[in-house]
Amino acid sequence: MRVVSGIQPTGGLHLGNLLGAILRWVRMQEEAECLFFLADLHALTIDVDPQELRSNIREMAAALIASGIDPKKSILFQQSAIPAHAELAWILQCTARVGWLNRMTQFKEKSGKSREGASVGLYTYPVLQAADVLLYRATHVPVGEDQKQHLELARDIAIKFNTDYDVELFVPPEPYIPAGAAARIMSLRDGSAKMSKSDPSDMSRINLTDSDDQISQKIRKAKTDPEPLPDDPALLDGRPEAKNLVGIYSAVTGESVEQVLSRFAGQGFGAFKPALADALVALLHPLRSRLEELRNDPAELDRLLADGSARAASLGQPVLKQAYSAVGL
Ligand code: ADP
Ligand code: NA
Repeated sequence: MRVVSGIQPTGGLHLGNLLGAILRWVRMQEEAECLFFLADLHALTIDVDPQELRSNIREMAAALIASGIDPKKSILFQQSAIPAHAELAWILQCTARVGWLNRMTQFKEKSGKSREGASVGLYTYPVLQAADVLLYRATHVPVGEDQKQHLELARDIAIKFNTDYDVELFVPPEPYIPAGAAARIMSLRDGSAKMSKSDPSDMSRINLTDSDDQISQKIRKAKTDPEPLPDDPALLDGRPEAKNLVGIYSAVTGESVEQVLSRFAGQGFGAFKPALADALVALLHPLRSRLEELRNDPAELDRLLADGSARAASLGQPVLKQAYSAVGL
């Protein structure tokens, strides 16, 4: 089983990214051969500030390693360091059909009202995503609900290419659903909005870089209701903020929601919030220390990424060569 997954280097990580994506990657390392990449080419599909992108790439690499992506166990690399991604994407753009891309709902959502003003890259990026995984003959790709259509496209492209050129080069990847429910972490200010870096209020999210005091303060100020916690998880329905905080506690400690409630039932947030803050600090403090170490040693970070790129290239290059050869180049 070989898994390939990328994350765009867009600003620092928050608790949602960590619980919803990165810590799942960390666990995946025990189950599969993993390639994780900083999707910096994908970051170009919308307007970027070059200086910001450059620093975000390093920051994200450090954050991933600090969170437990082990560059010895997994192959961690920067997408643009491997020209084969863009080269294969071009070949595959000539396999993919306009009709297929026209059906991608993500483009419609992301381009919004200004479809004519969106970059061509935003339109074709699902093909680059296909190249990202087909290049390494990934057997599995971890996908959220919003990316299922793109994985289906990657499979269609792999099958059409193999059929058109009568080769068995590309492996149509299967979706990989990691064990354990996917945590969807909501904003601390509004239980109905996703925790996101695009929320203008920094109080809405816990960042990987927040100090212990900031974490405690954000939890203390998190929106709640005046009711005590129930003993039955079903009674959290209709109480989005309470449900979110209990869900965070559960995701952070690994206890089930039932277990958490059996301990805190009948207590109000005055008792629950400090326990939640302590659990968050226990998770994030060591990650932040490691992040600071990596930031202070840019040469080590460069070395780790260069090593990952070399290993990724040695897997991808022969596949690219065969793709060129299949089409007659
Ligand atoms: P953001 O919403 O902050 O821009 P991204 O869209 O860059 O985050 O998401 C990066 C990864 O983190 C994706 O795998 C996404 O599913 C996950 N993720 C982002 N926000 C959350 C959240 N609030 N809860 C759970 N997972 C999340
Ligand atoms: Na986003």
